[in-house]
Amino acid sequence: MGSVITGSGIAIPGHVVTNDDLASIMDTTDEWIRTRTGVEQRCFVDPGVTTSDLAAAAGAAALDDAGIDTDAIDAVVAATMTPDLVAPGIAGPVQERMGLGHIPVYDIRQQCSGYLYALDVADALVGSGKAERVLVIGAEVHSGYMPWGDAEWAYLRGETDTPPDAAMRERASRHRGWSVLFGDGAGALVLESNPDPSAGLRRFHLYTDGSQLDLIVVPGVGFKHRPYIDAAQLEAEMHFPTMRGPQLFKQAVTLMPEAVRAAAAAEGIAVADIDLVIAHQANARIVDAVARELGVGSDVVPTNIASYGNTTAATLPILFHEMRRAGRVPPRAVACFTAFGSGAHWGAVLYRQPAG
Ligand code: ACO
Repeated sequence: MGSVITGSGIAIPGHVVTNDDLASIMDTTDEWIRTRTGVEQRCFVDPGVTTSDLAAAAGAAALDDAGIDTDAIDAVVAATMTPDLVAPGIAGPVQERMGLGHIPVYDIRQQCSGYLYALDVADALVGSGKAERVLVIGAEVHSGYMPWGDAEWAYLRGETDTPPDAAMRERASRHRGWSVLFGDGAGALVLESNPDPSAGLRRFHLYTDGSQLDLIVVPGVGFKHRPYIDAAQLEAEMHFPTMRGPQLFKQAVTLMPEAVRAAAAAEGIAVADIDLVIAHQANARIVDAVARELGVGSDVVPTNIASYGNTTAATLPILFHEMRRAGRVPPRAVACFTAFGSGAHWGAVLYRQPAG
């Protein structure tokens, strides 16, 4: 029994922020962001819109695409690093917003690799016979992480002509190394049991190195602190991520190709037999390096980071959805999902589209 993808959907918020827009509130340039990261713009939600809102919208689009009703879904697996609240997670609110009934739901917390782990859980539910159809969602609202406040948001939204003052600009600039990378968005896939054992999610090569916590970490707002959030943490800006960018970069370009090779070998195919490598969109240069390292053309390892930035747990389903829509996943096509990110978690998941 395989678990195959029968529907996909995405939700991209409407507030587009270009690199030039960011340069109007911090010391950066379109040229730096474009050449170092490949990002040209990112999309942010309107105030009040949450991760579970985007997740539910992507989920509804996926159900629509699969041609099924809400009562056909037996479980939800949702990955995010930006839940609406510290607790509970987003899967419950998604269930409620979509009207899915009291089915079991699972929250996954593996950041950029969250979607790989979500697929693993969903596949296990289908494979064990506990569920026939699972909705697998990756969603993020990174807006809340952005190192600026209401005045800058109003300026970016064109609601005021008053540019941020020098202190605001200095604060945003201090965090320019990571903040220019991220955007909001959600993607969802419907996973369904299929009698063809040679089709569906085939190989899972997932890894974690818990000693690498400091590669990218949010040091504040956690229960190692008493209280878990206070003014001192905010003053020290511990609610923002800290990132060791170059170290992340080096590991990503080595470990993702290694995981893809391991998945291909387990399947008994050559890397050249993979039609699509759906790689995490953290940096276009990383995606290019993965293609080079695997010895495949850039068309095999597509990128859409120019349009959305890094949407963390949502990059894989958004990109896969776009490839499906573009006709890049025909019958028997082999796709390999791969990611590396905070945790450190990484890996590859190999998928074969069923015949006909
Ligand atoms: N605009 C202009 N200049 C900048 C900016 C910016 N936005 N950001 C940094 N710089 C400057 C730095 O201050 C530095 O200046 P200096 O040389 O005068 O000190 C210079 O640019 C180079 O900085 P580096 O950090 O060395 O730049 P690098 O080429 O490594 O690119 C980047 C940084 C884009 C972050 C890259 O390292 C990267 O993509 N790393 C991987 C990130 C990643 O994989 N994230 C995924 C995990 S995220 C997750 O799991 C949620």
